[in-house]
Amino acid sequence: GVSAEPTSGHFCGGFRVHHVSIERARVRKDSSTKKLINDAIMNNDFLKKLDPQHMREMVDCMYERIYTEGQLVIQEGEPGNFLYVLADGLLEVMQNGKLLGEMRPRTAFGELAILYNCKRTATVKAVSQAHIWALDRQTFQSIMMKSTQATQEEYFSFLRSVSLLRDLPEEKLAKIVDCLEIDYFDKGEYIIREGEEGNTFFIIAKGEVCVTQTTEGCTEPQEIKTLGVGDYFGEKALIRYDLFADLFNHLKMEKKLCFPSSNFNQMVGTYEELQAYLKEYVEELSRLEATKLLIAVIP
Ligand code: CMP
Repeated sequence: GVSAEPTSGHFCGGFRVHHVSIERARVRKDSSTKKLINDAIMNNDFLKKLDPQHMREMVDCMYERIYTEGQLVIQEGEPGNFLYVLADGLLEVMQNGKLLGEMRPRTAFGELAILYNCKRTATVKAVSQAHIWALDRQTFQSIMMKSTQATQEEYFSFLRSVSLLRDLPEEKLAKIVDCLEIDYFDKGEYIIREGEEGNTFFIIAKGEVCVTQTTEGCTEPQEIKTLGVGDYFGEKALIRYDLFADLFNHLKMEKKLCFPSSNFNQMVGTYEELQAYLKEYVEELSRLEATKLLIAVIP
């Protein structure tokens, strides 16, 4: 019959896949989706042993698939090309025609054939329509092959090229690398909205960002300036939160290349140190009434 799993190469069409210079193909996800996939990985006895950085890469590279009721996701005995996370819906697991159990959302599966290069040990079928995140074998292997150290070095040399961080002592820069995350924005998508409460400091790793602001007498927000690779924004949030660090200790890491301000404080230094770094830039932003800044990626 027809194989449940396509070969990995045919799988990407139609998905929002981003190609980024220092990265492999990634699919943008909101923070609740990332958390769901991460929880699923951490719930899996085999996958939870993976390196956290590899895990993050896996989360970033998974792409979405919808299965209809009755459709096979995995066929026992076949070679395995994908690792999956169930986000929504219900699946059943069978072996030799016997029902072994059900799978509910926040479950990772299909890991055995991928990790141990064996045939699929069970059949997995959609009982209802199912919303599933998938990662193909080739991407999984390329993530695993890349050493954590190589990625760290890439981030390290990028951060070193950022004017704000150029003079930071090595060990502090290394700590920033540890808490760094990467986020992706489509052309025209807003990163920060005018008037919004900010909690994230951004450094642009690729592309350009357009800053606009509402001006009296104009209906459309006016373009103030363009930021490019190595430029940063959102630093006002860092300084504000630094003063209230206790309140923000629970802040999740949501955006990248960026870090939550509470962490930034622990990682990089005191408020005074940071302020010295940012003083000039913040003054410039104050002149522009930075609390009203609106930032978007240039279409
Ligand atoms: P894999 O063998 O790659 O493909 C089938 C998947 O079903 C397997 O990985 C596991 O993720 C999952 N699986 C296997 N046996 C069971 C079981 N007894 N209960 C639940 N899930 C299982």
